[in-house]
Amino acid sequence: MANYIRLINKEHPLPADYIPENLVDTGIPFDALPGDSKRLMEMNAAKAAHQLFLAAHKEGLHLFGISGYRSYNRQKELYNGSPYIAAPGTSEHQSGLALDVSSPSNNLELTDSFAYTPEGLWLAKNASLYGYLLRYPQNREAITGVPGEPWHIRYVGKELAHCLTLTGLTLEEYHSLIYKSSQ
Ligand code: DAL
Ligand code: ZN
Repeated sequence: MANYIRLINKEHPLPADYIPENLVDTGIPFDALPGDSKRLMEMNAAKAAHQLFLAAHKEGLHLFGISGYRSYNRQKELYNGSPYIAAPGTSEHQSGLALDVSSPSNNLELTDSFAYTPEGLWLAKNASLYGYLLRYPQNREAITGVPGEPWHIRYVGKELAHCLTLTGLTLEEYHSLIYKSSQ
């Protein structure tokens, strides 16, 4: 079974040969053609994304998947030194648990302005109900190593998503608290 609360960052990379089990098509509206591997996610993350998108749709909002699973090699191709693109091995997208999301109201772009669209505002409020976390909040770059990304959501399961969303703690801070308390 996937480790849904696993910390993946520069200090905690995934092995280059790590490929998640149970990658499936999310079945959500996606800015990529069927068969494109960026439409894939780990099975439970995919199910939760499907429910999240359905709930948004019921409220008249139009979320689109932009990028889900990315292999180590794909991340290597994309990597250009920008803080918005993690080095190969250090991207949550390699785990199949992360999804970049946008909306037609933001021209399907991954930009800060997504946060202020009806879809972006709804996502920030409701993602945790489906087990997702806005993984890279604004003004936490010193902790997460990534500037604010209101479009990047990470599946961690409902319990931890609620806990971190309510407290405002990042996944890095959660892991360091758990680590300290187990000493
Ligand atoms: N945009 C995030 C940091 C990634 O490439 O995984
Ligand atoms: Zn992302």
